[in-house]
Amino acid sequence: MANSQEAAADPTGARQLWMLQLQLNGEPQTVAVPAHWTLLEALRYGLGMTGSKQGCDKGDCGACTVLLDGQPVLSCLTLAASVQGRAVETVEGLGVGGEPHPLQQAFAELGAAQCGFCTPGMMMSASAYLDQLSLQDQPQVQRADIAAALGGNLCRCTGYTKILDAIEQVAQQTIARSKQFAEDSEDPWQGEP
Ligand code: FES
Ligand code: FES
Repeated sequence: MANSQEAAADPTGARQLWMLQLQLNGEPQTVAVPAHWTLLEALRYGLGMTGSKQGCDKGDCGACTVLLDGQPVLSCLTLAASVQGRAVETVEGLGVGGEPHPLQQAFAELGAAQCGFCTPGMMMSASAYLDQLSLQDQPQVQRADIAAALGGNLCRCTGYTKILDAIEQVAQQTIARSKQFAEDSEDPWQGEP
């Protein structure tokens, strides 16, 4: 039986398949893919996860952006075999239990998606930005920082303003929640003799 490090026989006999194992949106997954496939191809055609879009397929548009070990990468330029054993997050993992993610809510409320083709990649870049923001001691939401985080994501429809508005709104909410959490977690005996 083939293990993760061995090539498996393709039932068609036409080529060799690589047994790819990864953590996909928090769940272990194994899929047989041709050794030359990109991560985007493994997601879309091996695993049926079509949220990540195949736009330019050459690193120009950002529609295929996913998080690899928490960092945004272009899945069309990432060899599937290079993510063996690693954590991949796609737009399908953003909403939990049928509840939309705050980014999804904000994009819908503020009209930040029109045709929606760029939206999954935008959201994954925005998600990485929010993760970074929440790690800062004194987080500040700067429009320029959001624009920089989305620098590799192109949109043909919206003119970007509403996308930036939506992400800025979620970032402000994230900071407010963090502050509230910190206040709620303060030692109630602090200052007592
Ligand atoms: S599809 Fe990957 S950058 Fe365009
Ligand atoms: S909403 Fe259409 S490409 Fe961005």
